[in-house]
Amino acid sequence: MILPPIITVSQLYKRYPSSATDALKGIDLEVGHGEIFGLLGPNAAGKTTFFSILCGLVKPTSGTVYIDGKSIENDMEAIKKKMGVVPQDIALYPTLSGRDNLLFFGRMYGLKPSELKPRVDALLDLFGFDENRNQAVNKYSGGMKRRINLLGGMLHEPNILLLDEPTVGVDVQSRRAMMEHLKDWNENKESTIIYTSHHMEQAQQFCHKVAIVDEGIIVAKGKPNELIKEHDCNSLEEVFIKLTGKKLRD
Ligand SMILES: Nc1ncnc2c1ncn2[C@@H]1O[C@H](COP(=O)(O)OP(=O)(O)OP(=O)(O)O)[C@@H](O)[C@H]1O
Ligand SMILES: [Mg+2]
Repeated sequence: MILPPIITVSQLYKRYPSSATDALKGIDLEVGHGEIFGLLGPNAAGKTTFFSILCGLVKPTSGTVYIDGKSIENDMEAIKKKMGVVPQDIALYPTLSGRDNLLFFGRMYGLKPSELKPRVDALLDLFGFDENRNQAVNKYSGGMKRRINLLGGMLHEPNILLLDEPTVGVDVQSRRAMMEHLKDWNENKESTIIYTSHHMEQAQQFCHKVAIVDEGIIVAKGKPNELIKEHDCNSLEEVFIKLTGKKLRD
């Protein structure tokens, strides 16, 4: 059975009130059920703005977004229940332990204590936490904070996961482990993952499809291997540089 796209975005524009230019300039995008979709772009391309609109934190200036058949304009509360968000800036309570942060998020999502505690401990085991799960987050390394940040968005087992640069500042070992877990999660829970990263090699391996966005415009979209072929390149990073150039942003 062919399902309709889980996310359909049409002609999405965003201009922040304080800004003279549009952060998003007419984004059209479809994401399929169960896809791992990479949104790739230089700094200031509009990736976080796009995510913020999808999760209801920022209102678009114009355009439409449908998620699982529901409009973000009218049905955001229903959409939020199915969505997990892992923000670019780590959002944890520094004086609480990693475990207590997750218990707190779980209660916010309305999970019952009897199901929440075993779920939190199983995820912490899976992501390599030992007794350190009970230490305050302000004693954690950057990589540990990133892992807890990621688990915070996965706890309620959403069927859409938005990951905004989930592996920034994480070492190779942890990064590989995180991506492997996310791949398993995508396969086992049949969940859709949309993810941003500046790590092109990782995106090439991890994503079924990608969109390259620059200055608020999608400049290419498709399967990584097809884009590489189409642009006569050897890697996604080469395609990225070919399409977005070498000018520094911001
Ligand atoms: N709250 C805001 N008010 C005004 N302008 C904003 C705001 N948030 C973002 N912008 C602007 O919108 C544009 C897109 O920013 P955004 O954070 O979405 O980019 P990004 O692709 O996530 O970049 P990065 O890779 O650096 O995280 C930038 O020019 C930025 O300065
Ligand atoms: Mg961003």
